[in-house]
Amino acid sequence: MGMYTLLLSVLALLTPGLVSAYRTTALVGDSVILRCVSPITHHTSLACWGRGACSSTGCNFPVATVNGSRVIWTKSMKYQVKGDITDGEMSLTIADVNLDDSGVYCCHVKIVSLGIDLKREIHVEIQHPMMPDNLVQGSVDDTLTLPCKYTPDDGPREVCWGKGSCSIFKCNNKVLSTDGANVDWTESNRYQLLGNITNGDVSLTISGLTKDQEGTYCCHIWVPGIFNDIKKDIKLEIRDVTLVRGSLKDTLVLPCSYDTDRGTYSTCWGHGPCGLLTCYNKILESDGDDVIWRESRRYQLTGNLAKGNVSLTIEEANADDGGVYCCRVKVPGVFNDIKKEIRVEIRNVDVISGRAGDSITLPCTYNVSEGTSPVCWGKDTCPISRCTNSIVWTDGEAVSWTMSEKYKLIGNIKTGDVSLTIKRLTKEDEGTYCCRVEIPGLFNDKTKEISLNVEDDGFQGFQTFQTEALGSFE
Ligand SMILES: *[C@@H]1O[C@H](CO)[C@@H](O)[C@H](O)[C@H]1NC(C)=O
Ligand SMILES: *[C@@H]1O[C@H](CO)[C@@H](O)[C@H](O)[C@H]1NC(C)=O
Ligand SMILES: *[C@@H]1O[C@H](CO)[C@@H](O)[C@H](O)[C@H]1NC(C)=O
Ligand SMILES: *[C@@H]1O[C@H](CO)[C@@H](O)[C@H](O)[C@H]1NC(C)=O
Repeated sequence: MGMYTLLLSVLALLTPGLVSAYRTTALVGDSVILRCVSPITHHTSLACWGRGACSSTGCNFPVATVNGSRVIWTKSMKYQVKGDITDGEMSLTIADVNLDDSGVYCCHVKIVSLGIDLKREIHVEIQHPMMPDNLVQGSVDDTLTLPCKYTPDDGPREVCWGKGSCSIFKCNNKVLSTDGANVDWTESNRYQLLGNITNGDVSLTISGLTKDQEGTYCCHIWVPGIFNDIKKDIKLEIRDVTLVRGSLKDTLVLPCSYDTDRGTYSTCWGHGPCGLLTCYNKILESDGDDVIWRESRRYQLTGNLAKGNVSLTIEEANADDGGVYCCRVKVPGVFNDIKKEIRVEIRNVDVISGRAGDSITLPCTYNVSEGTSPVCWGKDTCPISRCTNSIVWTDGEAVSWTMSEKYKLIGNIKTGDVSLTIKRLTKEDEGTYCCRVEIPGLFNDKTKEISLNVEDDGFQGFQTFQTEALGSFE
């Protein structure tokens, strides 16, 4: 840690506004300490801790603020900054954590007199105490760490990671190896060792997860002698999320099915993410053969239950039907349940028309009472996360990227007005646009789609016609 802090301070002096990041995990009920030590002491500083990524000026969703040597505000008793602040110690203690405390936290320290801004992002993952230590769960696009450690009392060891269960001799489908000091080979830069390798922490970090990376991984540590090697199997589970889109009054079908080779199982549907053990916010239950309870007549299982088709039908969709649903098939045994998450989006599409040559503003606003959030605009329907064909990004405070000068956010971004202005409309600008407000937490984003029609004046239409006509001679 000492060296790390030193490194951080050197970097900090060179690079004001540096963002550093690390990850930490804890169990439900623990207290976690998120380390944040300012390398510059005895200077008056303003600091805040917040949930979500660091913003350019402060903290999104603040939980604690510090002015000089005092903590001036905390969101609740749960959050405490206990250390000696004048000594730069800004670490945040979160007491009695639960699963909802998972996510990114930002420690933002401003040394006013030196004009230095330090930002540190910490990814916190809270696990259920019942979670076996060889099971790691995540979603597509996440960065996750598969834990594996040894005690380097007898010096460094060669270690390899492979995909598939451990075998006697070596790593099958090797993805990474280290000589005990450095990584000497990786299959791709998505696999990294971010722990202190010489200290025996050879946990594997995988970034940009995809569904086909699911499965068992083996951490294989060589120890001299026959059959002395240490081997650890770790199971990586990627949440399976499907997107179902519909409009008001539609009948929606949320797909879910399982293999009935060993018979049928009881199943429940909940309106919320899949919990580790139960269906939260249950809306329907089946004993495997029949529906035995449902919250409303609008929920039905119309598939062939005997063949394991437990797809949920929702009739007469309304605006409250949006969000995540969980289909849980209760397979006997601990952690055997089949879980499937489905995100339902009730499309909220506005239609706007403009004239070629004019400027137009596509409205999109959100409530900033809980803090500002990153927003993207894309020229396509809203995908499951982020924006397809991005044209503008803002970090919630200012525009951080635009595809071209054609696109502007001219509203007051800090008050939640992220309306998009498109200059000098042409027929090519016609189509669907997506505005996505990235609210922290799984599946909390707010999206809005706008369908833009461009009425061309006769001249532009003529030009298009001419170009097309010429094109046909090529
Ligand atoms: C911090 O404290 C000083 C002195 O008490 C005060 O003048 C200043 O306005 C405070 N700044 C903020 C941002 O609260
Ligand atoms: C790794 O751990 C060793 C032994 O505890 C320590 O001496 C070293 O400074 C650590 N390295 C880093 C980069 O933290
Ligand atoms: C399952 O049932 C639904 C109706 O509830 C139907 O739309 C879907 O096609 C069925 N799926 C399969 C794989 O048969
Ligand atoms: C924003 O949210 C807060 C808290 O939920 C609420 O009190 C306020 O009325 C909302 N503002 C608007 C403009 O909707």
